[in-house]
Amino acid sequence: MRKPKSPQMRNISVLLSLLFLLLNLSLLSASSCKDKSPLRMVSGSGCFKIALFADLHYGENAWTDWGPAQDVNSDVVMSTVLDSEKPDFVVYLGDVITANNIAIQNATLYWDKAISPTRKRRIPWASVFGNHDDMYFEWPSEWFSATGIPQVNCPLSSISYSGSEPCTFRGTTRVELMKTEIANNNLAYSLNGPRELWPGVSNYVLQLLSSDGTKPALLMYFLDSGGGTYPEIISYAQAQWFENQSQLINPNSKIPEVIFWHIPSTAYSQVAPKPNSVIAKPCVGSINKESVASQEAEWGIMDILTARPSVKAVFVGHNHGLDWCCPYRSLWLCFARHTGYGGYGSWPRGARIIEVTENPFTLKSWIRMENGSTHSDVTLSS
Ligand SMILES: *[C@@H]1O[C@H](CO)[C@@H](O)[C@H](O)[C@H]1NC(C)=O
Ligand SMILES: *[C@@H]1O[C@H](CO)[C@@H](O)[C@H](O)[C@H]1NC(C)=O
Ligand SMILES: *[C@@H]1O[C@H](CO)[C@@H](O)[C@H](O)[C@H]1NC(C)=O
Repeated sequence: MRKPKSPQMRNISVLLSLLFLLLNLSLLSASSCKDKSPLRMVSGSGCFKIALFADLHYGENAWTDWGPAQDVNSDVVMSTVLDSEKPDFVVYLGDVITANNIAIQNATLYWDKAISPTRKRRIPWASVFGNHDDMYFEWPSEWFSATGIPQVNCPLSSISYSGSEPCTFRGTTRVELMKTEIANNNLAYSLNGPRELWPGVSNYVLQLLSSDGTKPALLMYFLDSGGGTYPEIISYAQAQWFENQSQLINPNSKIPEVIFWHIPSTAYSQVAPKPNSVIAKPCVGSINKESVASQEAEWGIMDILTARPSVKAVFVGHNHGLDWCCPYRSLWLCFARHTGYGGYGSWPRGARIIEVTENPFTLKSWIRMENGSTHSDVTLSS
């Protein structure tokens, strides 16, 4: 039971909550105004090109030789794609790391490796989480054989024996990964989304301006499709958040919108070509080697997206053996392309590229392979 408050107390609490609100507001603006220039269409060409890096899976089996070797191979894939396409922006589309294989407390070391080819070339980027990014460490069963368990690698700074858990293997939380990415990188446009949407964290929207900087040319929405420490899902609250945001920023659907998340929604299964069949028109793609591994349930996001004529396409990763785009009602559902050498499957690695133009607005996509070839050209809006 709560005791009724005296009027004086009530005034104080009103004042306190006002103060708190002001503090929050100033914190918000402080963190979002960090000297980040707005994203703009390239002047002259009026183009903007985005490379999608999906399922890199850094840090896999770090205790073997092949684990670190495949991270080096993933560096090469990204470098090749970046040097041949020269994108203006990169989206890290989830499963950047395989946290269930990372036996050190702070997985940001591996996250940092994964973003370094992009950072080195001074290209801005944004990231969303996949199901592997915040998983708990899973002890490999072979470690319990006669050869024994490798020595636990706790960072020195965190050894404080007075604390209850001096060295844990609980992965690095989504919030912690994102905080570190943002704090250490001026070029990272990622954001820790609104708290009300937790445990989903990578929920935010970025605006791309026209080349003259006078008006918005594209809105890019990023949503956290869950997995890892909680179910693989886009919640009702996230769907509501998207609806609220889009009504507020783009009430009459004038500005085109594209959407990025990691795990395909159940709508992907509805339009998917039969596994191992030829990908026939209107779908466009080159590999169709498995069934869609979709989210666990649908809580409304797809209905909200398809009700908006401005939403042109959704891009996901997660299924390494699929790289198609298929139309679904008023928009396109696209897979990226398995970019990393980490993760299951040995299909050749590549990256989906997206190109938008202004005057008139067009949205095109294709896949750039590690060996330099391109394929699966598709126009998603014209
Ligand atoms: C992990 O390491 C990064 C630097 O590599 C640091 O900025 C971050 O605060 C660390 N996070 C934790 C939870 O220790
Ligand atoms: C969306 O807007 C409605 C009505 O304004 C509000 O009640 C709700 O809390 C908002 N939800 C989110 C997730 O922003
Ligand atoms: C590049 O790889 C693709 C497979 O992804 C293959 O079809 C193509 O022949 C290769 N091209 C060259 C020049 O090696």
